[in-house]
Amino acid sequence: MSAAVLEQGEDAFRKIFRFYRRKNPPADLSGVLEFRPGESRLKPVELRVSAVSDQDAGLLGLQPLHQWSAYHVDGYPGFLFIVNPFLPGWQHRWVRQCLKVYPRKPNVCNLDLHMNLDSASDLWSSSHAQLRNRSSQKRSEKTLLEKLRWVTVGFHYNWETKKYYREHQSPFPVDLAELSRCVSLACGFPSFKAEAGILNYYHMDSSLGIHVDESELDHSSPLLSFSFGQSSIFLLGGLSREIAPTPMMMHSGDIMVMSGASRLLYHAVPRILRHPRGSALPPCLSVPPCNNDSSPVIEPCSPSDWEVCKSYLQSSRINMTVRQVLEEGGSFPEEGDTHGREMTKEDSYYSEDNETQGTEEQGLTKRMKTEEQD
Ligand code: SIN
Repeated sequence: MSAAVLEQGEDAFRKIFRFYRRKNPPADLSGVLEFRPGESRLKPVELRVSAVSDQDAGLLGLQPLHQWSAYHVDGYPGFLFIVNPFLPGWQHRWVRQCLKVYPRKPNVCNLDLHMNLDSASDLWSSSHAQLRNRSSQKRSEKTLLEKLRWVTVGFHYNWETKKYYREHQSPFPVDLAELSRCVSLACGFPSFKAEAGILNYYHMDSSLGIHVDESELDHSSPLLSFSFGQSSIFLLGGLSREIAPTPMMMHSGDIMVMSGASRLLYHAVPRILRHPRGSALPPCLSVPPCNNDSSPVIEPCSPSDWEVCKSYLQSSRINMTVRQVLEEGGSFPEEGDTHGREMTKEDSYYSEDNETQGTEEQGLTKRMKTEEQD
C-alpha cells in the first residue's frame, strides 16, 4: 500500500479506492483478502444447514448447505462471505436470467431513457446474434446488452431521489426470490423478504463509487449480493469514510451478506479483474451449462443461449443485490414525509469524481464509471 498517497482533503476510503482503481502501473494486489482456508483474518461460519433441504438447494443450482464454505471477516461483525456455492454448470442459468429475462419489461433499466418500451424490452433479441458471432480479435460496435448498466426489479430504486416508492414496483422475480430465501435461511434470517433488486452490469473498465445502501426503510434485514462473470475487488469500509476499507477479492458465484453492524458500512468496487486462473472465463464458467436436471424454479440455459452469455462475460461482471425495503408489517410513509436519512452528495453512489462524470444517462448511470472518465 506504499503507493497510496493521500491527496489534500481526501478521505481514507477514497485513497484506497484510487489505489485499486489504478491500471498503470497495476496496483499491487498482495493485500487483497482471498477467501480461502487458513487465511488468518477469516473465521469459518456455521450455517443453518438444516434450514434448506439438499433437494431444495439443488433446484436452485446450489450445493447441499453442509458443503458451503462461509466466512466472517475479523472486524466486520454481521458480514458473511459464501464462496461460490453453485453446482457446476448452474451459474449459467442465473447469468442467462440476468441477460435475457430480468432486463425485460416491466423491469426498469438505464436504457429506458433512450428507447421506447418495445425495443427496451428486447435487449437480448437485438444483441444475441452479434454477440454470438463476435470474433474476439475484431473491435465491433457495442450491442444494446453491452450498453446495459443496471436493471431494477421489485420496488424500483429511484437513482435521482435515492428512494423507493409504493407506486413504482413490478413483481419480484420468483426464481430470484427463492434463491434469496435459501441464502437468507442458511444465514439465519428466516423472515427476510426479497422486495427490491438492483442488478449492476460491469465491463473491464467499470467501477462502482463509494456508497452506503441505506435507502431501504428496514436496515435490520440483510442485503444479499450475488456475483457472476469476471472477478472484482470489493472494498468494505466503516461507518465513516475516514475508516480505511479492507480490499476483498470476489469471484464468480460468490455471495456476500451484509447484516447487523455491517449493513450500513461504506463499500465500493474500484476494479474488475480477470480471474487469475481463467483465460477468457473463470474456471467455474468454462464448463458447459448443466441441462440434464430440470428445475421448476430456474429455467435451463440452452447451449446457444450460453454462447451469447459466454461472449458477453468474457469482459463483463454481473452483480445482483437483493434487499428487503419495508420492515415486517411496515408501509411507505405518506407523500411528503421523507424516509430514511436524506443522502448527502458525499454519500451518493456517484460521489466519485462526479465533476468528471459523463452525461450519457443524465445522472442515471453516474454511479458506474468508466476508465475514460477519470
Ligand atoms: C453494490 O454495492 O450495489 C454492488 C456491489 C458489487 O457489485 O459487488
